[in-house]
Amino acid sequence: MAMEIQAPKGTKDMLPQDAYKWQYIESVFRDIAKTYGIREVRTPMFEHTDLFLRGVGDTTDIVQKEMYTFNDKGDRSITLKPEGTASVVRAFIENRLFNEAQPTKLYYITPAFRYENVQKGRLRQFHQCGLEVFGSKEPSMDAEVIAVAMDTLKKLGLKSLSLNINNLGCPNCRPKYNEALKKFLAENHDGLCDLCKTRFEKNPMRILDCKEKKCHEITKNAPIILDYMCEECDTHFTKVKEYLDMLEISYEIDPGIVRGLDYYTKTIFEILTSDFTVCGGGRYDKLIEELGGPDMPAVGFAIGIERLIMTLEKEGIEIPNENLFDLYIGARGEEGSKCAFKLASSLRTLGVKCETNHMGRSIKAEMKFANKLGAAFTTILGEDELTSKKVNLKRMSDGEIFEASLDNIEVIAKIVR
Ligand code: HAM
Repeated sequence: MAMEIQAPKGTKDMLPQDAYKWQYIESVFRDIAKTYGIREVRTPMFEHTDLFLRGVGDTTDIVQKEMYTFNDKGDRSITLKPEGTASVVRAFIENRLFNEAQPTKLYYITPAFRYENVQKGRLRQFHQCGLEVFGSKEPSMDAEVIAVAMDTLKKLGLKSLSLNINNLGCPNCRPKYNEALKKFLAENHDGLCDLCKTRFEKNPMRILDCKEKKCHEITKNAPIILDYMCEECDTHFTKVKEYLDMLEISYEIDPGIVRGLDYYTKTIFEILTSDFTVCGGGRYDKLIEELGGPDMPAVGFAIGIERLIMTLEKEGIEIPNENLFDLYIGARGEEGSKCAFKLASSLRTLGVKCETNHMGRSIKAEMKFANKLGAAFTTILGEDELTSKKVNLKRMSDGEIFEASLDNIEVIAKIVR
């Protein structure tokens, strides 16, 4: 036998028995997005590497360690998208969506790729449901974006969610904070990991997010940005909290969150379950301009779908699953099989989910199979049925029989659906 090939580490197949969970999550997210007037955007799976160097930031773990980057046959440096935001911003600028009435509200459901140390809830290809809103600097928009994430997670039935928020300041106040942070870190510079030593000059805030234990220890008592906010950031943060209070969304202020991407300004947030950060997001008022667009504010989030599914399973939350088939049509003899084949085809045009025998099974085996598939109704077409033009539709849940005419498939469809 030829050697079996396995999927690459950190990737997962979505199998048919789980597909309904993905479809349900996506439909809940899409439906909620609609209630906020958010429209879908799809961007390519890969982009020029430069987009992420400039967008995500060259001192982040994502850029320094985790990107799937390669040269294509035309010798261009290409990267599989490690997140959705930079691509959506690129598309917003490139397609001149900034010329339309603002705000622009876009959502996406996308795979993302990061070369991570694989562990529970940490994959190399994972999927995000995300949202980006461009054009509004109002704190009400930060709260609305958070509300979309909370609405989605709550609609799916998650109860024990914690929302943690922080404010990362802006180009006015961040430099002052960076100075204070550098002063603090300078005393422990030798104890930092090599990567953080390089981050010290360029982007000391990144050190706060380092996964290395020794860096984590050093930064425990570091100064916090909330003590260095300028008036504008302070007022913005106060208002975001007021709007969240209005929506009765409870939150904790966690000055320790800095997020793993460089583009954030002002509000940032994470939504945690007992095991994971399931959602992360925030405001990024400078990114559109930094990527060559106009000076326009933005805010968004992304939910990790795999982590979400793992949490739903852990919390025992059932995702509604439809019957695979409304009706299984068994057949006796060649004429019966032909009639079953034709009837299945006609019923499908009326939206009935049905199946018939393509495996040459005996009637007994067919009925066993129908039962296994969870068909809501079964019927058998044989000589008698063909002569009388009548079928018996058996409801599998209680065995009740419904008689219907083969000449009136609308009635059959109505009974079985
Ligand atoms: P992020 O925090 O890097 O933010 O990712 C968002 C979510 O994606 C995480 O909370 C997590 O649920 C999921 N996730 C991230 N990495 C992995 C992984 N390796 N395996 C499984 N799930 C993962 C962003 O990506 C930003 N673009 C969010 C954003 C949108 N900010 C503003 N707009």
